[in-house]
Amino acid sequence: MDIMNVLPEDRYAEADDFLAFISIYDDKNRTKAYFDFLDKNKTLVEGKVCAELGAGLGIMSEKLLELGASQVFAIEKNPHLFELTRKRLSKYENAMVINSDVLDFVPDREIDFAVHEFYGQLLFDEEIFLLDSLKWKPKLLFPNGGKLMGGVMNVADFDDEVVNAETVKHLDGVLVSGLFDEENVPLQFDVATYKYGTGTPKSFVCDISAYTGDLLYFGLVILHDGKEICRAGVCNNWSYVWTYRKGNKFKLEFDVTDRGTDVYFSWLDR
Ligand SMILES: C[S@@+](CC[C@H](N)C(=O)[O-])C[C@H]1O[C@@H](n2cnc3c(N)ncnc32)[C@H](O)[C@@H]1O
Repeated sequence: MDIMNVLPEDRYAEADDFLAFISIYDDKNRTKAYFDFLDKNKTLVEGKVCAELGAGLGIMSEKLLELGASQVFAIEKNPHLFELTRKRLSKYENAMVINSDVLDFVPDREIDFAVHEFYGQLLFDEEIFLLDSLKWKPKLLFPNGGKLMGGVMNVADFDDEVVNAETVKHLDGVLVSGLFDEENVPLQFDVATYKYGTGTPKSFVCDISAYTGDLLYFGLVILHDGKEICRAGVCNNWSYVWTYRKGNKFKLEFDVTDRGTDVYFSWLDR
């Protein structure tokens, strides 16, 4: 979904975010992966003070309420998503929907269990960094980890008439999401890892000299306590990210800005 007309900058930003975030709900596997975890771990929620950081449409908050949370704080900064969550949760007396940046939110009591989904296709390229900047700490955060994995293969294996060994060279240094389907494309090595509470690293160097092929790709894996919750390709909210393989060693860097996170990619041995 793209906005086609010129709008004032603020209106554009909030409508653009709104559209980007409602599209995640097309991914039923993502919702199922989260709900499955919550159903299996009901004791973490029942009778507990919970929060959803970045509530979107509020479906995770509603799940927490249905599972018996004593109180749910649903914090959402986008005014349109906030309004939709407020309506969804209006029937629950123990829901508090807050239109705020999570960084400005300070709960008046201890939060036992907080849920978020701040993962980008390249792990750190959306809002993960917020988690380590909160003014408070939940007793338990779900999910509390993730990794960005990578792989190398030959573009010829895709048998694509347009994106082939010649055209792909023109993507030298360009990271493209969704260039190919992820089906049957294995993730082979770790590129970057995240563990809540240990700080958000910003720069990663990876050596792929052991792998052959002219196509490098990345895929997200969401983890909780080291166990897989969801991964790119299975949960189609996250596509693989592809680029032409130009060397054996690359650097991936993330720079947090006022509006999201900028991603930098370079080959170190070209
Ligand atoms: C990927 S969506 C996840 C929505 C919801 N938690 C879910 O899983 O269905 C991320 C949400 O976080 C919100 N968000 C992003 N940055 C935020 C911030 N700094 N403070 C509050 N909400 C934020 C976005 O507007 C969006 O609704």
